[in-house]
Amino acid sequence: MSTGHGALTRRMVLLGGLAAAAGASLPWPTGAVPWGSGDPFTLGVASGDPWPGGMVLWTRLAPQPLAEDGRGGMPRRAVPVQWQLAEDERFRRVVRSGTAPAVAERAHAVHVEVDGLPAGADFFYRFRVGPYLSPVGRTRTAPDPLAMPAARLAVASCANYANGWYTAYRHIADEHPDLVLFLGDYIYEYAARTGDVRQVQGPVTSTLATYRLRYGQYKRDPDLQAAHQAAPWMVTLDDHEVQNDWAAGLGERGVGGPGFLARRAAAFEAFYEHMPLRRSSVPAGPRMQLYRRLDWGRLASFHVLDTRQYRSRLACGLPSCDPVRESPRRTITGAEQERWLLHGLASSPATWQVLAQQVIFTYLDRDPGPATNFSADDWNAYPAERQRVLRALVRQRVRNPVVLTGDAHQHLASDLRADLTDLDSPVIGSEFVGTSVSSGGDGSDHAEHLRRAIAQSPHVKFQSSRRGWLRCELNGSVWRTDMRVLPYVSRPGAPARTAASFAIEAGRPGLQTL
Ligand SMILES: [Fe+2]
Repeated sequence: MSTGHGALTRRMVLLGGLAAAAGASLPWPTGAVPWGSGDPFTLGVASGDPWPGGMVLWTRLAPQPLAEDGRGGMPRRAVPVQWQLAEDERFRRVVRSGTAPAVAERAHAVHVEVDGLPAGADFFYRFRVGPYLSPVGRTRTAPDPLAMPAARLAVASCANYANGWYTAYRHIADEHPDLVLFLGDYIYEYAARTGDVRQVQGPVTSTLATYRLRYGQYKRDPDLQAAHQAAPWMVTLDDHEVQNDWAAGLGERGVGGPGFLARRAAAFEAFYEHMPLRRSSVPAGPRMQLYRRLDWGRLASFHVLDTRQYRSRLACGLPSCDPVRESPRRTITGAEQERWLLHGLASSPATWQVLAQQVIFTYLDRDPGPATNFSADDWNAYPAERQRVLRALVRQRVRNPVVLTGDAHQHLASDLRADLTDLDSPVIGSEFVGTSVSSGGDGSDHAEHLRRAIAQSPHVKFQSSRRGWLRCELNGSVWRTDMRVLPYVSRPGAPARTAASFAIEAGRPGLQTL
């Protein structure tokens, strides 16, 4: 593409200018590259999982990101990739640099863990191979463990490329949050369908090559790249990174077996290859450690959950299924993660205890009449574990619990009560469900089938079926969430607006409408 070549040329000219300006401070070689020619940084750069002394820097070499074999146009040999981290955008004050191998077994992805940096500080980073220089990303370290800085978060999920443009990602980039939380459905596994706004390539993803190709296509999107370049991300996955509605060893419609586990292993490998995750999340076959905790000083603890890998099978949502649904043996996190979560909630000193996770937590009966109809896939299908978590929040006097949720393709703002089925029990926390970046297409202010059901749910304070994201601003005394929405995603360039805003005061549970 001629535009790609133009961008490359500009970057190379810029590099020349910088090298001249910085004298001999860029001792990078300019030899031949082993793939012939072509910019290898077509998928952008990313950073993630910051801690007080550092963060993960990511890129993947793919001069031909749409090559059908999923190899991105790279040869089988390993390629050394140079990286730099600087205090300034022009890389005059480089504070760390090094070389990391990009190996074919990992699709020539690079994950660099930089350490020993000052806490709570901004940095810029870039990569280089031969004459090719990557775009520059902005990142930051987490605050000092004793600090209580204000923070700005963007919360996003569900970015079906075929359903619409990534306008929400562009707005997130423009707002420069401190951290982006991505709560699942970064890709969708489906093949192209009639009526798609944008065409995906390739079949339904099921092998390593097809998952890699899908990420290659998604990550070429300039709005997505801009959002990664703007801030570090903390990512988790949901179902569509593997297959719709998968649950532990079972795929869609409960079909399991070795075929599904092989698919899960391929999906996990491709997810790791394309995300700024730490070494602790390197997959081992069909297993990957994704639940983890990230502390933002004394301001917030983010308990990032994995509600897919260890869950009991889906239950049907109808009353006839209640004996199964309500079984205390059912789990959405697995016993080990549940213990880890409850222990972490009890021991963290942070003001805001945040569950960053996939599926709706609050009580939501989707039947507008006297009957009940629960999702078979969210916490309403695992009510015994949900009640154990709520009891622990009360018993352990957990400070200011906030649940952040993806998956639902709608904004919801709800209060959480000690007993979700008893509207007289005390409010103990709140949940914000962030709608989708693009999944579901343009959407509307309300989904009619949910409007009447939600009218009967006084703990639900707000609902919207528009596309968008959550913008959260928090300090030691107040959490504010703006429900950001877009009028359309079927065309690029939609303006964003705030459909509703809520505040929570620390020490005083419950949503306040602003
Ligand atoms: Fe989704």
